[in-house]
Amino acid sequence: MTEIKIHASRDYTVSIGSGILSRIADWIPSGAGVCIVSDSNVGPIYGIILQKFFHANKIQNCYYTIPAGEASKNAESYLALLDYLSVNQFTRSDCIIALGGGVVGDLAGFAAATYLRGIPYIQVPTTLLAMVDSSVGGKTGIDLPAGKNLVGAFYQPAAVICDTDLMNTLPEEIFRDGCAEVIKYAVLYDPALFAHLEERGMDFDRERVITQCIEWKRKSVEQDELDRGSRMLLNLGHTIGHAIESVSNYCISHGQAVAIGIATVSRAAGCTDTDRILSLLHRFGLPTSCQYSAEALAQAAKSDKKRSGDQVHLIIPRAIGDCAVMPIDIEELEVFIKKGL
Ligand code: NAD
Ligand code: GLY
Repeated sequence: MTEIKIHASRDYTVSIGSGILSRIADWIPSGAGVCIVSDSNVGPIYGIILQKFFHANKIQNCYYTIPAGEASKNAESYLALLDYLSVNQFTRSDCIIALGGGVVGDLAGFAAATYLRGIPYIQVPTTLLAMVDSSVGGKTGIDLPAGKNLVGAFYQPAAVICDTDLMNTLPEEIFRDGCAEVIKYAVLYDPALFAHLEERGMDFDRERVITQCIEWKRKSVEQDELDRGSRMLLNLGHTIGHAIESVSNYCISHGQAVAIGIATVSRAAGCTDTDRILSLLHRFGLPTSCQYSAEALAQAAKSDKKRSGDQVHLIIPRAIGDCAVMPIDIEELEVFIKKGL
């Protein structure tokens, strides 16, 4: 097992390894009761196993589940979860376990951030995306009808437990989506990781790669926990990616959209490693272009939540391991995107 310590407004440890879920009782504060929050795909596989561990260790537990998918990350599920916690008389010394992908992690984390003005929660990510990205760093939240993640809080977990075995049941296309985020870290920070992915493709060393990505996330969160500066780099491929998701009416998955976003900014910015980046995305079965016009994508990007005033902050790769934040006027975005499509 590998451990990474995160020093933020709350310090905590991310533990990464195969089979470590069986030791979950070690992470629960003595005397705490737990509420497992999961979804309709993950709960029936791993929720039951977790409950067994808790019963064996005499840890009082209850279980709350949401329908799988982004549509559940809303105000209704959030309020229903708060109700469930209060009916079960949860107190500040109890703990939420977020067992699932980014949807469960964001929702359960936001409930933890706000119920009784904050109770502890433990992230148990079950997708690659959640392991390398959403479970670490304390961004929690829900969607509004007007857009994704429009309500939320920065609220760090008490611990993150990445059991790499949990990905054995993950459908391949969801694993592939997570690979787009792994490639994002490699382009942003890490020529050695990029070379490892080139060499091994989808058969990369999971524990090593997840650990390396979390290490990069640690640095980013410790430097800029509230996302006002360098943490913005983690948005590589996401401004155009979010626009693609929105214009496609969410028919194009997040990972695919981010892949097209990374490819588009690399071409538009004249990144010296564009060919290698495109080849790697193809190697992972990820797309690098789409049918939408620059005009439609620029229009959609105008409602990006990271827009500030008349500008958006695009992340520009100059070379693998050398990326920069580039503020661009919203009116110039269409011309820029056109260069990269
Ligand atoms: P997800 O949580 O919807 O999971 C994808 C699908 O895989 C779901 O159907 C889920 O039930 C299923 N699944 C998950 N684990 C499984 C397993 N081990 N076996 C079988 N099926 C499994 O999606 P995601 O890609 O994990 O997360 C996307 C969400 O994360 C979005 O809401 C996004 O906004 C959020 N996000 C948050 C952050 C952050 O910093 N908080 C960062 C990136 C993304
Ligand atoms: N997923 C981007 C961040 O945590 O900042």
